[in-house]
Amino acid sequence: MTADSVPMRRLCKLDDLPKGDAFDALGFAASKPGRAGVFVMRSGDDVKAYVNCCPHLGTPLNWSPDRFVGLERECIVCATHGAEFRVDSGECTSGPCLGDRLDPVAVEVRDGDVYVADWEGGD
Ligand code: FES
Repeated sequence: MTADSVPMRRLCKLDDLPKGDAFDALGFAASKPGRAGVFVMRSGDDVKAYVNCCPHLGTPLNWSPDRFVGLERECIVCATHGAEFRVDSGECTSGPCLGDRLDPVAVEVRDGDVYVADWEGGD
């Protein structure tokens, strides 16, 4: 399924995302109770989005509201047991879910706004 064929939800302005040489992120809560949120990351013009759910135990990844990366800000780090994930692919490179992946969410930037596919699915 492509981003063109799924409903897209506006999350924020591209300029709202932290930018710099290292990655940083913004997290957004789900609109439906019991569903995982989503987070978006920017490095230069590249924007990635993943469901905020660790493949190890299904817990949120973040340390605090918008803190998804390790101290070196080079990878996504799960706050629960420290699993590390590549920013570009979501692949776990270290920790108890080694080889698993974060769930990617289709993302696009239109007219300076960031849109993501509806990651929460149906009712
Ligand atoms: S819940 Fe994320 S590494 Fe265990």
